[in-house]
Amino acid sequence: MKKILSIALCMFMVFGLAGCGGDKHPNDEADTTSKTETENSVTEQEMSAPKEMPSETEHPTDGSGKILVVYYSASGNTKAVAEIVAEAAGADLFELTPTEIYTSEDLDWTDEDSRVSREHSDESLRDIPLTETMVANWEEYDTVLIGYPIWWGIAAWPVDGFISANDFTGKTVIPFCTSASSGFGESGELLEETAGTGTWLEGKRFSSRPSEEDVRSWVDGLAL
Ligand SMILES: Cc1cc2nc3c(=O)[nH]c(=O)nc-3n(C[C@H](O)[C@H](O)[C@H](O)COP(=O)(O)O)c2cc1C
Repeated sequence: MKKILSIALCMFMVFGLAGCGGDKHPNDEADTTSKTETENSVTEQEMSAPKEMPSETEHPTDGSGKILVVYYSASGNTKAVAEIVAEAAGADLFELTPTEIYTSEDLDWTDEDSRVSREHSDESLRDIPLTETMVANWEEYDTVLIGYPIWWGIAAWPVDGFISANDFTGKTVIPFCTSASSGFGESGELLEETAGTGTWLEGKRFSSRPSEEDVRSWVDGLAL
């Protein structure tokens, strides 16, 4: 009986150890394999995650993300339009304010010595410092609407500092302006050139005091 037991014990040890020994490399391989499988599955997961993540499904970057309305307004007309645009689009508002605000004397384009007239004649004077150019949580906005008055046929230059300070990569940018009589002209294209990034859509010119209905119908047509 003892003999049978010791033979059984030996066989168990031999096969058991062989099994253990045999497990070592296969385990390494298995480790490698399972690691590779894990790596593969992580890679596959990572690659397919954007399609599968609920947040991606709920907030696709197809225009239904957060919207920001940025504007500069020297005498209140563009501000009034920007507020309607923001309300209609469910957007946040960000006002651009020059460190040195333009007084009504500054804005007198009929006076060739006024601030705007001097800035108009000398482009090097158009670099207007703003109180703030960086928007909190900028990366969360998919769409940025930029409003400004027309000055001598182009966008009032206080917006330039904001445009050049920000990266519009991945964002849809829609310019709009107010003017007494001039059209939209090249104002949007010039800003797009300054920005160098972003997908810029066709802009919209409003009269100095457009009806709320006109502004809302433009925003509705954008299907933001
Ligand atoms: C310095 C200056 C230049 C302007 N140049 C033009 C122009 O070239 N064409 C035009 O139609 N209106 C021009 N305007 C009128 C403004 O574009 C218009 O009144 C605008 O609605 C003002 O917007 P805001 O009140 O938001 O500043 C000019 C106004 C100023 C102060």
